[in-house]
Amino acid sequence: MNVLVIGNGGREHAILLALKKSKRVEKLYCMKGNAGTAEIAENVDIDYMNTEAVKDYVSAHPEIDYIVVAPDDPLAAGLVDELEAMGKRCFGPNKAAAIIESSKAYAKELMKKYKIPTAESETFESYDKALEYIRKKGAPIVLKADGLALGKGVLVCETLEQAEEGLKEIMLDKAFGTAGNKTVIEERMRGLKYTPGEEVSVLAFTDGKTIVPMITSCDHKRANDGDIGLNTGGMGTFSPCPFWTKKLEKQVMKTIMVPTMKALNAEGRKFKGCLYFGLMRTDKGMKVVEYNSRFGDPETQVVLPMLKTDLMDIFEAVTEERLSEVKIEWEDGACVCVVLASGGYPEKYEKGKEITIGDIGDTTVVHAGTAIKDGKLVTNGGRVLGVVAKGKDIEEARKKAYSAAENISWENMHCRKDIGIKYREG
Ligand code: AMP
Ligand code: GLY
Repeated sequence: MNVLVIGNGGREHAILLALKKSKRVEKLYCMKGNAGTAEIAENVDIDYMNTEAVKDYVSAHPEIDYIVVAPDDPLAAGLVDELEAMGKRCFGPNKAAAIIESSKAYAKELMKKYKIPTAESETFESYDKALEYIRKKGAPIVLKADGLALGKGVLVCETLEQAEEGLKEIMLDKAFGTAGNKTVIEERMRGLKYTPGEEVSVLAFTDGKTIVPMITSCDHKRANDGDIGLNTGGMGTFSPCPFWTKKLEKQVMKTIMVPTMKALNAEGRKFKGCLYFGLMRTDKGMKVVEYNSRFGDPETQVVLPMLKTDLMDIFEAVTEERLSEVKIEWEDGACVCVVLASGGYPEKYEKGKEITIGDIGDTTVVHAGTAIKDGKLVTNGGRVLGVVAKGKDIEEARKKAYSAAENISWENMHCRKDIGIKYREG
């Protein structure tokens, strides 16, 4: 089979690396890709948000048998619907199902209607009514812009003053553009043991009939050590989550995952693809923080390397709605991904810095924001590389990842030094 993966980042490189191991995959393509994907796939220099250009390319390349749409924005825009209408087989939800990520207000409504545990919330289209509600509820309180906002549209406010300022930013100043036309205001949840609350990402394959959780992982969204600083796209991940147990999985399957799949079906929005559950273990049990309609980034970088089953077999089974027939198996042990970022990220940073990579042992360098310029590997984004290491446990994987990272450099490179140490006591 010849497979096209849509997207540019570390997640897409990780998906391509997993597909490269498939016995059934012959040729890989990536639109647009980066310097890393170019090593294993043919990069296609087309803007994937230009639907007509994507369709023209796909028509001109009938040898492409299968298309994986990985990022949130083309999913929300309905690229899968367009490609399926051309008779192409795809991995990723259609537009109707992708709404579970593209509208937080919709996701909250769905959870309320089907009694799926999540933080108590109200949605507002009027700034004045929202302000009144915030003043009534008081702080701490959480504000969420309704639409897609590059993972930055969530403000966890400790004081009423912060909340009032944040509401103005979202609804009046439109800091996140039209994503802020509606705002979800919700109670701030508390972790069972840790502050901020302990979070786990559970990615699941689903064909709308069966839902199969992958191994768990934990992200580090804040820019600096100790989970402080600005929110980023993710500074590193590790797998598995230390507080996850078989018992917890059974409970979450029953209270959250299966009910979500069924709720989407009942609403006429059958979801086929990777459904991402951002969960928090709170003092009132496991609750949903957010849904994503896709593989997480950088969660995918630590989850897919542990997959023993052929990923292409799983993708096809999802498309053909026979996921229940596939036995999905995972390696034992642990995996850690340390993200190496440009100096200044997530705020202003420079691109085009030459990258040198020395001895990285048996780790894998996953590319996110890289390019080749004048024959040299250079930085081309905020999150540049992910160093992915496996080990018998998280500590061993973490040590390997950091010693490889020491042999990678460019001007002003920065990374967190504490990836993989949280939730150690379970
Ligand atoms: P989201 O984009 O919805 O995942 O939110 C980003 C981050 O904000 C989450 O990973 C949590 O750390 C935090 N957060 C979101 N909602 C809540 C909440 N209701 N209570 C506490 N923290 C939250
Ligand atoms: N790592 C968080 C996300 O992919 O949304």
